[in-house]
Amino acid sequence: MVYKYKKIPLVYDLPLTKSEKQGVALFNRAFQESEIQLEADGTTLTVLLREVDIERLREEGRRLAIYSQRALFQDVIKAVERIRSYGVRNHKRYYVDYDKERKVKRRKTKAQRRQRYYYAEGHHFSRLNRPFPRAYENAIVCGDSLEVLKRLPDNCVDLVLTSPPYNFGLDYEEDDDTRHWEKYFEKLFGIFDETIRVLKWGGRVVVNIQPLFSDYIPSHHIISNFFMSRKLIWKGEILWEKNNYNCKYTAWGSWKSPSSPYLKYTWEFLEIYAKGTLKKEGRPEDIDIRAEEFKEWVVARWAIAPERNMRQYGHPAMFPEHLVERVLKLFSYRNDVILDPFNGAGTTTAVAKRLGRRYLGIDISEEYCRIARERTEKAAFQPKLPEGNVSYGAKWI
Ligand SMILES: C[S@@+](CC[C@H](N)C(=O)[O-])C[C@H]1O[C@@H](n2cnc3c(N)ncnc32)[C@H](O)[C@@H]1O
Repeated sequence: MVYKYKKIPLVYDLPLTKSEKQGVALFNRAFQESEIQLEADGTTLTVLLREVDIERLREEGRRLAIYSQRALFQDVIKAVERIRSYGVRNHKRYYVDYDKERKVKRRKTKAQRRQRYYYAEGHHFSRLNRPFPRAYENAIVCGDSLEVLKRLPDNCVDLVLTSPPYNFGLDYEEDDDTRHWEKYFEKLFGIFDETIRVLKWGGRVVVNIQPLFSDYIPSHHIISNFFMSRKLIWKGEILWEKNNYNCKYTAWGSWKSPSSPYLKYTWEFLEIYAKGTLKKEGRPEDIDIRAEEFKEWVVARWAIAPERNMRQYGHPAMFPEHLVERVLKLFSYRNDVILDPFNGAGTTTAVAKRLGRRYLGIDISEEYCRIARERTEKAAFQPKLPEGNVSYGAKWI
């Protein structure tokens, strides 16, 4: 098999020594030809790179260090690290074969010609961010979000994280969660318009939504179209894999027949939108995401089990705490203002408090607000989480 490599020449003043050549031979034996190899030729050492597990490369580099006084193998590691085109495989950081992708010539000019997020051009968002009103800071307010949000000034919230009622017919305290779809979206979009208004320049909205497949309503697309029509930038989508396989298998009469196969979904979506700009300003000392978390969480498929304590809190559709933790640490800074206009049993506000964010939670149900207040009050600020223990409430799968 002839492999196509990315070639990185390392040029030295003096030719490679006998001992260094020995080290190169051992290096080549330690890795497959399909991964990485070294080629020594006079004063040049060429790195032939296809794909490699960075940790293993570092390990080999350390092992072979004794073969070179001028730290040749350190140079190899640095050369690979400098590329910065990484993926994650089996939870390991990999340099992956992005050569083909690189073949796009004049990438920047072409991107300009395509005009990225053209749908968000021509907006009239103000860049003037305002302080969050003291009266609503760290509060849980009972009421219709449409009305409550009107009391807030423009541009004062950093991040909105929410899961609206899905219109599935769930039994909420104040509502049976079933409306004509047009009425449902009209009400929802009224509230979303207010959240956009109160959002800061550079702020984000993260909406957790599950389409109702049995009604053939792609809510996640409809909601995305709405936010794009309001000129927010669609920042991306996270697939929340819940692995709940207890959904029904087929529509009646469609077993093993192409007549109308029923597709099964074990996941929901988190749609993310940004107001004005994709870049959110913040102080470096207010970043609390760890390197390991960042590497894992930017891979936009999150396997997190559904919340298991819903009965305890008396709410039928809660976020697992760990999901909220990921969103807050990945998309907001400490001290930011987090708003949940459908706060339910207060998962967003409780986790926001634990992670040192300010918060406002709104829900139409007195009972849910009572539960949310109690839960959020009990949550203690825990800025540094124990290493390797990042799962709270939800069980990992
Ligand atoms: C899917 S639940 C949110 C659950 C929440 N994420 C949690 O972890 O507990 C949706 C919530 O929206 C609330 N709600 C429905 N209509 C509302 C409105 N107009 N204003 C405020 N809250 C509303 C419901 O009472 C319900 O608690």
